[in-house]
Amino acid sequence: MAIPMVTFNNGNKFPILGLGTWQATKEECQNSVRTALDAGYRHIDTAYAYGNEADIGEVLQEYMKAGKLKRSDFYITTKLWLTHHQPERVIECLNISLANLKLDYVDLYLIHGPCAFEDTGTGFYPLKPDGTPAFLNLPPEKTWEGMEKAVKLGKAKNIGVSNFTCDQIDRICKIATIKPVTNQVECHAYFNQADMHRFCQQRGILLTSYGSLGSPGRPEMLKRDTDSILLDDPLIKKLADKYKKSAGQVLLRNLTQRNILVIPKSIKPARIKQNMQVFDFKLTDAEMKQIEGLQKNVRLFKNDLGKGHPEFPF
Ligand SMILES: NC(=O)c1ccc[n+]([C@@H]2O[C@H](COP(=O)([O-])OP(=O)(O)OC[C@H]3O[C@@H](n4cnc5c(N)ncnc54)[C@H](OP(=O)(O)O)[C@@H]3O)[C@@H](O)[C@H]2O)c1
Repeated sequence: MAIPMVTFNNGNKFPILGLGTWQATKEECQNSVRTALDAGYRHIDTAYAYGNEADIGEVLQEYMKAGKLKRSDFYITTKLWLTHHQPERVIECLNISLANLKLDYVDLYLIHGPCAFEDTGTGFYPLKPDGTPAFLNLPPEKTWEGMEKAVKLGKAKNIGVSNFTCDQIDRICKIATIKPVTNQVECHAYFNQADMHRFCQQRGILLTSYGSLGSPGRPEMLKRDTDSILLDDPLIKKLADKYKKSAGQVLLRNLTQRNILVIPKSIKPARIKQNMQVFDFKLTDAEMKQIEGLQKNVRLFKNDLGKGHPEFPF
């Protein structure tokens, strides 16, 4: 069954489900993208910070050169890293991503997070010479100027944000001549982002969920001691039995039924194929409400990097 499209506030269409690619070796990443494309995925989520744009670019070239797919068949998302938030540096970072991906444009470009850092050349979360974080007090509204330029230069078809708060989105909307199309945030049955979802809906902005399955494979440093395993939730498992689906499929169905984009990551062919089979069943209104009741309002991702930054969102 084909993956349904959503319509962004600029009229552009985008597949509601794509493949996440965070944390995979080159071989795993390339094989998962091939499996996904063969299965019918067209939307791939990556980021400058994932270090796999070039791996994905090679596979896209392979498919285009073999005449299997055209550029216009793909929906490629990548993200601006926090060392490049100055408006003039946005295009610099995007150009690196485009060269990695071997593309002239991306379909969706996101600000990966709201906290700007000085690029002191000391890694992904740069430090000052005294060892403290090299925070840069630059409001995301400034970065948005660079994002709009990316659209004007034809290097990004759509632009958006990730890990932004309602207030930060509001500030962007106040100065924007091009509105963000999405906010990509942690969102799943245990942290359902109901308020953020409502807020974005009122502004014509769609949510994209990361960690839709509870991100069981995220690094230990991002886990809490009290972690609950979303895929093992009794209600989700009960619904999976009822519909003869997996727990993962129920979680993805719940989100897409709320018109939230999902980008489940897997390197396992069977799961990649399974994760897109979520459009041939429908949860009842009562079941959707029951899942809403699972809300714990606690993030599974423990993200302390950037704590103390004036724009820290968590
Ligand atoms: N914007 C941001 O700050 C941000 C942050 C985090 C993630 N992301 C993006 O969002 C994507 C998804 O998030 P995520 O990777 O953290 O978490 P996720 O999609 O919730 O979970 C992925 C994990 O679940 C496993 N899995 C996949 N399908 C499954 C299934 N059907 N049943 C059981 N287990 C399954 C995968 O293992 P196997 O690979 O072994 O199958 C992997 O360990 C990322 O890959 C990335 O592209 C963005």
